[in-house]
Amino acid sequence: MRTQVVIVGAGPAGLTLAHLLHRQGIDCLVLEARAREHIETRVRAGVLEHPTVDLLDEIGLAGRLRVEGMTHHGIRLRFDHAMHRIDFADLTGAAITVYAQQELVKDLVAARLADGQPILFDVDDVRLDGVDTDRPRVRFRHDGRERTVDCDVIAGCDGFHGISRASIPAGVLTVHERVYPFAWLGILAQTRPSCDELVYARHPDGFALHSMRGPEVTRQYLQVPAGTDLADWPDERIWTGLRRRLGHGDGLDLEEGPIFDKSLAPMRSFVVEPMRYGRLFLLGDAAHIVPATGAKGLNLAVADARVLSYGLGHHYATGRWDELDRYTERCLRRVWQVQQFSWWMTAILHRIGGTQPFDERLRAAELDRVVSSRAAATTLAENYVGLPFATGWAWRG
Ligand code: FAD
Ligand code: DHB
Repeated sequence: MRTQVVIVGAGPAGLTLAHLLHRQGIDCLVLEARAREHIETRVRAGVLEHPTVDLLDEIGLAGRLRVEGMTHHGIRLRFDHAMHRIDFADLTGAAITVYAQQELVKDLVAARLADGQPILFDVDDVRLDGVDTDRPRVRFRHDGRERTVDCDVIAGCDGFHGISRASIPAGVLTVHERVYPFAWLGILAQTRPSCDELVYARHPDGFALHSMRGPEVTRQYLQVPAGTDLADWPDERIWTGLRRRLGHGDGLDLEEGPIFDKSLAPMRSFVVEPMRYGRLFLLGDAAHIVPATGAKGLNLAVADARVLSYGLGHHYATGRWDELDRYTERCLRRVWQVQQFSWWMTAILHRIGGTQPFDERLRAAELDRVVSSRAAATTLAENYVGLPFATGWAWRG
């Protein structure tokens, strides 16, 4: 078998890249380790930035998300028993869309299959060979058969625990990492949203977030210590925690109901530099992780796909590598902006045990400034709705 680009992993990064390449007439094969049903039901993120939605719109993939996604023109910040609104429309003119990641994955898979383009699920034992040569090759097992694909470029879109980054020899990558001493316990509940926008709450017990998935389903999170066991959090304890931290009044009246999904997500900041080794390019969680407070993980994965798509478009149109040689630099500029924002949102909203009371006061002062200064609120809003891009997703000569 031969193709131009092998994409390892069918998450937001891999699937978006596959579509952007197809739109430019570049062939690719998507290899996914899990079953289609698994990736289409995996509960994860839910906030799409304005540039992410615009990109999906431009390539005709935002049909269902425009109908079923919820457009939000602001968020609420709650602390010290008061509710504050950050008005994105007023501060930036832009909005965000709340739409579950697995719904986006469903849309992207369906569109790829409708285009008659290849995507293999349930592949095993993916191995990358010759990535530091001009003849890279991907080997894997599928349907009990050993397969080999020759290609020009490999896109490593297989998440934080994938094999792509792990295939790069020791010493090539510099790792920047921060692990936080807390995690998020996330739930999905059969309840009506208690507020028409997302509520980020800072409370002496820790952070809480009230989000939603539709008119009858809420997605909510509680800060818990790293290493927490879900078994220690029966439903009643979760509702008590959410009630205390989110409070009530000011348009928020928490509705309780059946919880049908519970999970833990560790909080981590992680970046590798460079995001490339020879013919292997890393995208999304394979290259970087942000703490979830800024709602950026999925959006950053789509942003990397956009940058690589542009570079590959240029490469196949001209035979040159210079745009691809800028891949790391272009991605990392955004990645570090988003890292800074996600770290900052995390710092001002969480209870960070073990730090000095002085530092705690500084973080509280920073949050106070966001709700009392238009300039500070604008900084939050600009980052939250999504920073603009310097280049397009297709090279147009
Ligand atoms: P992924 O979505 O991880 O996709 C990688 C794909 O590669 C997967 O389908 C995987 O099955 C496949 N794969 C792995 N190994 C191989 C292999 N060897 N061969 C082939 N395929 C392989 N972000 C937020 O902003 N808010 C949140 O609330 C939030 N919650 C999260 C909860 C969890 C449990 C996790 C793990 C992440 C969460 N994120 C959240 C982050 C966000 O979901 C990710 O940033 C986003 O999924 C990144 O997309 P990706 O395409 O880079 O990677
Ligand atoms: C959601 C997740 C986030 O990480 C966030 O910051 C806001 C909302 C969500 O899953 O809805």
